[in-house]
Order: sequence, then C-alpha cells, then structure tokens
Amino acid sequence: MQATVRGARRLEGEIHVPGDKSISHRALILNAVADGPATVSGLSGAADVASTASCLRALGVQIEEGRVEGRGLHGLQPASGPLDCGNSGTTMRLLGGLLAGQPFASTLLGDASLSKRPMERLAAPLRLMGAHAECAPLRVGGAVPLRAVDYPSPVASAQVKSAVLLAGLYAEGTTRVTEPAVSRDHSERMLRAMGATIRIEPGSVSLEGPAARLRPLSLTVPRDISATSFWLVAAGLAEGGRIRLPAVGVNPTRTAIIDVLARAGVTINLSATRPVGEEPVADLEVAAGGELRPLEVGAAEAAELIDELPVLAVAAVFLPGVSRITGASELRVKESDRIAAMAEGLGRMGGRVTELPDGWEIRGGGGLEGARVRSGGDHRVAMALAVAGLLAQGETEIEEAECVAVSYPGFWDDLELVCSA
Ligand code: S3P
Repeated sequence: MQATVRGARRLEGEIHVPGDKSISHRALILNAVADGPATVSGLSGAADVASTASCLRALGVQIEEGRVEGRGLHGLQPASGPLDCGNSGTTMRLLGGLLAGQPFASTLLGDASLSKRPMERLAAPLRLMGAHAECAPLRVGGAVPLRAVDYPSPVASAQVKSAVLLAGLYAEGTTRVTEPAVSRDHSERMLRAMGATIRIEPGSVSLEGPAARLRPLSLTVPRDISATSFWLVAAGLAEGGRIRLPAVGVNPTRTAIIDVLARAGVTINLSATRPVGEEPVADLEVAAGGELRPLEVGAAEAAELIDELPVLAVAAVFLPGVSRITGASELRVKESDRIAAMAEGLGRMGGRVTELPDGWEIRGGGGLEGARVRSGGDHRVAMALAVAGLLAQGETEIEEAECVAVSYPGFWDDLELVCSA
C-alpha cells in the first residue's frame, strides 16, 4: 500500500495513541511465567505484540483479550515447531532469554528484516551463563541449570538487558548487567512488582536467582510515548498546531524526546502526572509557536531516544541552523538502516541532510517539498516520513505504508483525524 500525505494547513485535536509496545511485550512474557492469571488492559494492538502473544501460545500459554493464564516459571511447554517472531526484535530477544533457561530447545525465526538483525549480542551473554545459544536462526535452551553472570554489555540495549535478566531467573546466584548508557527500565520495574529480588542502581541492575516464583501482575499499559513522538514533532512544528495526547507513559528512561524538543523550542505541557501501576503517566499537550533553535544530540542521550531519532531528524529540517544527531550507530541495525533511510527520504524531499556513520548533520530552515519516498517496510521510517509530508509543501507518497501496523496500526486514521479537525 502507498499512502499519500498532503502538507497540512492545520493540525489540531486529541489522539489516543496505542498502549506502550515495550510494556505490552513484557506484560505478556512475564505474566506467562507467573503463578496464575493476570489481566492486562490497554495492551498494544501492534503486530509486534501479536507476535509475542502467538509465540507464547505456541509454548502452551493461554492468552485471551488481555487475560494471561500464567503457567509458572517451569510450566512452559516445548513448541511443536519454530517460533515466528515476525518483525519483532523485542519478541525474539526477550523470549530468547526466557527460553534459554528452559530444559527444552527452541528455535526462533523472523521475517527478512529480523533475520538480518544482530542476535550474537544476546547469544554471547547467554553462553556465558552456560546456556546453549546459537544464532541465525536463534536456537536456545536445553542446557540447564544456568549460572549467574556479571555482564558488562557493550551496547545500551533494553532488549539484551531484559533477556539476560529473564535467563537470570533460572540461574544460580546474582546476575548483573551493566550498560554504557541508560536504557528503558520497564522489565526491572515489572520484575520487582512481581516479587523478584532485584536491585536497580545507576547504570546497572542485578537479580538474585533462581527465582522461586513470580506473582501475577494485573496492569493497565500506559499509552506509547514513542508513538506520541510523531505528533509532538508534527504539531510542534506546524503553524498553529495543537494536539492533546492523554494518558501517555512518562517513564524517565523514555522522556528524553520531551527534553530534546523543549531545548529546540517546542513547548510540551505535561499535566495530571500520576502513577499507573509501576509506571508514571501524564496527559501531554503540544502547541507550536516557540522560538526555535537547532538540535544537538549525542551518545549520552541517543540510547534513551533511539526510536524517536528518525522523527527528530524530520524536526531538525524545520529548525534554524545546523543540527547534529550523533552517537546513534544502533540505528543502522534496527528494522532497517534508519540513518540511510531517513537521509534518503528527506533528501528526496529537498532536505539538506548529511549522513554520518552514527547519525546525521542537518541544515535546517529550508523546508521540504512533497516527493515519492520509500519506507523500506520500516514502521518508524514510514511514520517519520509521513510527518515530513505533513510539514512539507505539496504531496508526499510513502511506499509500503502498511508497515505502520508493526507498532501503530491506527496511525493513518489518526493522521486523517488531526488534519481534518
Ligand atoms: C526495546 C528496546 C530498544 C528499542 C525497541 C524496543 C524494548 O531496542 O529500539 O524498539 O522494548 O526493549 P534495543 O534494546 O535494541 O536498543
């Protein structure tokens, strides 16, 4: 499918973005091995989360309309064939960690994009724990018990960290993961609430294993701040833009997008900040009209912003001066090479974007012209280029636009909604 986006004259209204994808995966996976049933409301309808649910069903877990029948830490059954993780790196890596601790072997497969993504970063620490783990396809499990590991991860990756912690539930001793930069901490928060013995320190997390049990955790999933980021940029930079986004998760490991946009002069108001279970939630409102400045984002922030960087590159085109986004080479191993994909798409629209090995240098202030652009089947590239189209003159055609369903199935409907309000 191809989507056509016209430069918007007004961007106004209220959008209910989907439930947080990272939290949705974790709510299903951790409750699958809890000691009884739990109800998860507000679960993301994203295709990635559906991949996690179908893999868990193949392992014997009943999941229906947000109700997860936890089978206990030792109750998973071997699947009858390979587990299909679709496009979802989180499914493959988190389940890879969990399944490494099982007495049976599992094979995890993915689509063409996922099959190219690095899995050795997961297999290496699992092998240090004594697990059987090989890549391409990912094969784990069947060598238990595991031993705890003190693992200094070379990359800041919540997926790797979470996978090692999940394996640590089955390992004797203290499993510790240290990271070069902060990554999202949803797994840690949930594991703590489910009764795991876990210590969260700046830059590292440790878990005592083997865990005897996890308590089921019923929860409401906050709305996804990464999905929200598209509207923060679109309304923040469109003349007269104003969009309200209720009940968005504002976990401090995910809100760098708000801080960075604020530095660039985009005003985002947070109100009614409240805890919802383990996570803070707030109502957001973004309005255009501040005095704009160029962006500077480096390695210290890039990990916390990793999924928001493509749309931040779009924002930079509309800021005055030269913006630099660096320290983000991880973008090259996402669902596509997002550094190349955004440089190409924005370049086709007349953006002055120079590709760097680990980011972009962007000369802003020149605006964009509608063009035909390629998403390459990458959901975040498709949505970022759609925002570029909303802010451009004329018409933009986005190829393979259906891929937004990977994280945000209602994206094109929401876009219509705010354009016609
Ligand atoms: C995620 C972690 C990040 C992020 C991905 C979701 C998670 O990946 O890009 O969309 O839910 O743990 P990495 O762990 O590879 O940085």
